[in-house]
Amino acid sequence: MNKKTKIWGLLLVIAALVCIVVVVQTFLRKPAATIKLASIPAGEYDPAVWGKYYPLEYESYKKNQEMAPSPTGFGGSEKVQKSVKEPEILVNFKGMAFSKDYTEDRGHPYAVQDLKETKRINPTTPGACMTCKTPNLIDIYKDMGWNYAKKPLTELFPRLKHPISCANCHDPATMNLRVVNPAFIEAMQRRGIDVKKASREDMRSYVCGQCHVEYYFEPESKKVVFPWDKGMLPEQMYAYYQEKPAGFDQDWLHPDSQAKMLKAQHPDFETWSSGVHGKSGVSCADCHMPYVRKQGQKYTSHWVTSPMRLTKESCMPCHTQSEVWLLERVKTIQNNVWQLQRTAGQTVAKAHEVIGKAAAVTKANKAELDKARELVRKAQWFWDIVAAENSMGFHNPDQVLNSLGRSIDMAHQAIATANRAAGTSF
Ligand code: HEC
Ligand code: HEC
Ligand code: HEC
Ligand code: HEC
Repeated sequence: MNKKTKIWGLLLVIAALVCIVVVVQTFLRKPAATIKLASIPAGEYDPAVWGKYYPLEYESYKKNQEMAPSPTGFGGSEKVQKSVKEPEILVNFKGMAFSKDYTEDRGHPYAVQDLKETKRINPTTPGACMTCKTPNLIDIYKDMGWNYAKKPLTELFPRLKHPISCANCHDPATMNLRVVNPAFIEAMQRRGIDVKKASREDMRSYVCGQCHVEYYFEPESKKVVFPWDKGMLPEQMYAYYQEKPAGFDQDWLHPDSQAKMLKAQHPDFETWSSGVHGKSGVSCADCHMPYVRKQGQKYTSHWVTSPMRLTKESCMPCHTQSEVWLLERVKTIQNNVWQLQRTAGQTVAKAHEVIGKAAAVTKANKAELDKARELVRKAQWFWDIVAAENSMGFHNPDQVLNSLGRSIDMAHQAIATANRAAGTSF
C-alpha cells in the first residue's frame, strides 16, 4: 500500500465514524440529556409545580384526565363495570368486594378519587390499599415504615393529597427514574436484583412494575408483598401461594363452593416480562410513553394510555407494517383471548355452582369434594390472572391463551370431581 492509499483509507474510516456518530445522535440516542434541571424540593408532590419547569411533559400528563374508549374496543379510560360484559364475574367473586364494584381502569390522575369512591372499601379496609395510588406514600412510609399498612385506610385519607404523579417515577433533583414502592424494592431484592443499580432501560419498565403487578397483603401486618419468589409465571405464583406465606391461605371463602379463593390483581409487569416484547427488551415506556415532537422538540409523552391512540409513535419506530395492520393484529389477539376468557370464566362459575349443589347431597364424599374445591381454586386463578390483566392478552398472547386453556380444563375436572363425589350429574 502506498502513502496516498493509506491517507485515503484513514480519511474513509474517519468519515464512516462521523456518519455513525451522527446517525446514533439523531435517531437512536434518547433525549433527556438535554433537559435543563430545575431544583424541586424532595417533598414536592404537586405535578403543577413540576410542570412549571417541564411544561411539555406536564401538558401531556394532563391528557391522562381525558376519558375515551380505546380504538381496540377493549380497555379504554372510561369507568365502566366489567360485569356488564362479563356477568360471570358476579358469580366468581361472590362473597367478596369485587362482586360489588369492579371497574375498568382509567388515567393516573384519578387514582385517589377512584380509591375513595369505590364501594370495595369500608371502615376496616387497611391503609395498604393506598400504596399504589399516590406519591404521598413516600412521606407516610418514611414516618411509619410498614406500620401504615395496618392503619384504617380512611384514617390516611387526609394525607393523600395527590394521585400518582411525577415523584412516583422521578427523583426531583436529577430527574432520573426511580422506584419508591417498598414492596417492589423488597420483591426484587428477594430475586437478587438491586433496583438502585438497574440500567436506564430496565427502569423504563420498573417504574411501572411498582404498581402494575400481582400482590397480596400479609394477614397480620397487612404489608404488601409481591409473590415472585418462585418466578412470575401463573404456575409459579400459584405454587408460592400454596405454601401459605406468612399464614396467607386465601383472600376469601366462596359461599357456594366453600373453596378457599385467591383474587389476582393486574399482573401487567409479570405477563409482559415473559412475552415476546419483554424478552426482546421492549419496555413499558417504549409503547405507553413514546417519544413525540412538538415544535421540533423531542420529548417523552406522559399521556399513559392505550398505545393504539398513538400507533405511529408507539409501534412504528420498530414495526414497518401500517397502522391499520397493527391495529388489526392487536384486535385479532384480543378477540381470541376474549372468547376463551369468557369460556373459562363461565366454566369456573359453573364449577362453583356444581360443587355447591354436590356438597348439599348428604352422602357426598368429603375428600373428593375437597379435591373439587382445590381444582376450582386453581382454575379460577388461571382465569383471573388473565382477566385481571389489562391488555386483553396483548402483552403475552401465547402464555395467556395457555393459562385460559388450562383454566377451562381444570374447571371441567372440578365439575366432574364434584359430581363423582355426590353421584350426581349436575
Ligand atoms: C409513571 C411514571 C412517570 C411519571 C408519573 C412521570 N414520568 Fe416523566 N418520565 C418517565 C419516563 C419512563 C421517562 C423517560 C425516561 C428515560 O428514558 O430515561 C420520563 C422522562 C421525563 C423527562 C425527561 C425528558 C423527556 O421528555 O424524556 C422529564 C423532564 C419528565 N419525565 C418530567 C415529568 C414530569 C414533570 C412529571 C409529572 C407531571 C412526570 N415526568 C411524571 C416516567 C414518568
Ligand atoms: C404508583 C402506582 C402506579 C405507577 C407507578 C404506574 N401506574 Fe399505571 N395505573 C395505576 C393505577 C392505580 C391505575 C388505575 C387508576 C384508576 O382507574 O383510577 C393505573 C392506570 C394505568 C393505565 C390505564 C389508563 C387508561 O387510560 O385507561 C395505563 C395504560 C397505565 N396505568 C400504564 C402505566 C405505565 C406504562 C406505567 C409506567 C410508565 C405506569 N402505569 C405506572 C398505578 C400506577
Ligand atoms: C409492545 C407494546 C407494549 C408494551 C411493551 C407494553 N404494553 Fe401495555 N398495552 C399495549 C397494548 C397494545 C395494549 C392494549 C390497548 C388497547 O386495548 O387499547 C396495552 C394495554 C395496557 C393497559 C390497559 C390500558 C387500558 O386502556 O386500560 C395497561 C394498564 C398496560 N398496558 C400496562 C403496561 C405495563 C405496566 C407494561 C410493562 C410492564 C406494558 N403495558 C408494556 C402495548 C404494550
Ligand atoms: C422497541 C421496539 C418495538 C416496539 C416499540 C414495538 N414492538 Fe412489536 N415487536 C418487537 C420485536 C423485537 C418483536 C419480536 C418479533 C420480531 O423480532 O419481529 C415484536 C413482535 C410483535 C408482534 C408479534 C407478537 C408475537 O407474539 O409473536 C406483534 C403483533 C407486535 N410486535 C405488535 C406491536 C404493537 C402493536 C406495538 C405498539 C403498541 C409494538 N409491537 C411495539 C419490537 C417492538
